[in-house]
Amino acid sequence: MYTIEKIHFASINSTNTWAKDNINTFKPNTIYFVTTDTQTGGKGSKDRSWSSPKGGFYCTICFPNINKLNPNTITLVTAITICSLFEKKEINLQIKWPNDIICNNKKIGGILSELHDDWFIVGIGLNINLEKEHIMKIKRPLFPASSLKLEGYNDLVCNEILNDLINIFPKNLKQWEDTGLLHFMSEFNKFNILINKIIHIKNMDKDIHGAYLKLGINGELIISNATEIETFLNGDILKIT
Ligand code: BTN
Repeated sequence: MYTIEKIHFASINSTNTWAKDNINTFKPNTIYFVTTDTQTGGKGSKDRSWSSPKGGFYCTICFPNINKLNPNTITLVTAITICSLFEKKEINLQIKWPNDIICNNKKIGGILSELHDDWFIVGIGLNINLEKEHIMKIKRPLFPASSLKLEGYNDLVCNEILNDLINIFPKNLKQWEDTGLLHFMSEFNKFNILINKIIHIKNMDKDIHGAYLKLGINGELIISNATEIETFLNGDILKIT
């Protein structure tokens, strides 16, 4: 079993960056939960920045990649963990493959997973109590940004979310190490915003429209249209109808 260690900062550039810079101090068999009240250089996926004023939840979970598993799938398992944690608070969140957390068709969070020196660095950013002035500055291509406070959930406390996460995540991590994504498929489908949708997706060599078909066992998005079935390990969803 893993030992849990919590590390908290009042302010830091990025919890993911801090974790990568300090990996040589990490102990084996330990899961680190690195949190901060605010980030000065928060990192999002696809080289975007992640706006990180006070009031948000910024956490990087670090653990050794013992079984050489796939980073795409831990992103999804983390997204499922977040959605089920909030479901217990009667807050309905959804996952937009591959790493977005959605509430009321608005993006309120995201996950940035990285592999560094055989450690997983799984960064979670959730807009919990962010005010309108901050949200207005965030430009999102598909789902507009919001915070849970702006969506009507006023009494969330970041420290409680951390404690909930510390309670659930290690169990899900163990399950994922044992069975990969398989165990999580039905739960993923419960939160999956793409079910029954037509998707326009693009990555380097492919650009197609099609109906969402399913999630592959390695976390890949599988869509189909009249002529083809296409599999995407990553990519940008440009439109959902
Ligand atoms: C995304 O683009 O949707 C992923 C955002 C991930 C942001 C989190 S906040 C905590 C951790 N530290 C970072 O610099 N990024 C991640």
